[in-house]
Amino acid sequence: MSGARVVVSTARDPGPAQVERAREVAAQCLLPFVPRRGPLSELLEREDVDLVYVVDRDRETLRDTTERLSVHEGLMKLRAKVGPEHPFLRAVAPDGGVDAVLDATLGLAQDALHLAHALEARVTGLEASPVLACLAQAGLRRMAATGGRFADAAARITVRRAEAGRHLAGLAPGSWPVVLLDPMFTTPLRGPPGYEVFRRCAVDAPLTPALLAAAARVAARRVVVKAPVGWAPPPDLAERFHRRIRGKALDYLVVEHGAAAEDAAPAPKPYPYRQPRRRTPDG
Ligand SMILES: C[S@@+](CC[C@H](N)C(=O)[O-])C[C@H]1O[C@@H](n2cnc3c(N)ncnc32)[C@H](O)[C@@H]1O
Repeated sequence: MSGARVVVSTARDPGPAQVERAREVAAQCLLPFVPRRGPLSELLEREDVDLVYVVDRDRETLRDTTERLSVHEGLMKLRAKVGPEHPFLRAVAPDGGVDAVLDATLGLAQDALHLAHALEARVTGLEASPVLACLAQAGLRRMAATGGRFADAAARITVRRAEAGRHLAGLAPGSWPVVLLDPMFTTPLRGPPGYEVFRRCAVDAPLTPALLAAAARVAARRVVVKAPVGWAPPPDLAERFHRRIRGKALDYLVVEHGAAAEDAAPAPKPYPYRQPRRRTPDG
């Protein structure tokens, strides 16, 4: 995990509810709560502070001196426009009808929202970074509460602060239809605004054979791994995949179970790695 030093505070002139929520976030994340007394820049100038988690009346953000990160509908409108032909949906639900997904690497919950919206699936998202888990929970709650096109989808998502490997180990075999893995790949992706703040808090553990095996044990139908376009898995991972769905900027590698595995084409041959382009909504 990154060593970013984060403190929790509020916007200026907070009400009691914001102070209480900021204290709650600080306690959950084992971070200091710093009452807000002046401009945010004063806090960020402190030598022992890299980022401030700010609880405001209408949203929660993670800030550094230049960027702010929050969880919101993001590129959902664009993804929704692509419809069922989106490569992500073709990977997760090639035959339609997946009603529940365990997203083992929740991040900013964009994939979780996509699945909850397009498939009307119930999604549980695991996030090992306590700060990002709080941010996701706050953003999704806000979306669900304020209405709007993706409110129902946001309400279908449950956020859990958990390390994926440990959480998966405690689940029964085949207990989720689909498990999604989208770890932080080491190749830097030039991200959208706020990405640098995100990267500083995210857990950047690579995809390991043990994690993939743990996901495959829990998935009744399939595991989907999201990877940079053209990613060639190392040999100890490559043999496990049955399908690769290509997107414009991302590939989706799938481990199938049961009948779908028998029908699936042989494992794709690795091919030379190309530097990924920026993520796009239809990636
Ligand atoms: C590439 S991001 C996922 C983005 C996400 N799919 C989205 O749509 O916003 C990876 C996220 O998974 C988290 N993560 C990485 N390894 C993890 C693990 N072993 N258990 C739980 N979360 C993990 C990181 O902290 C990061 O937030």
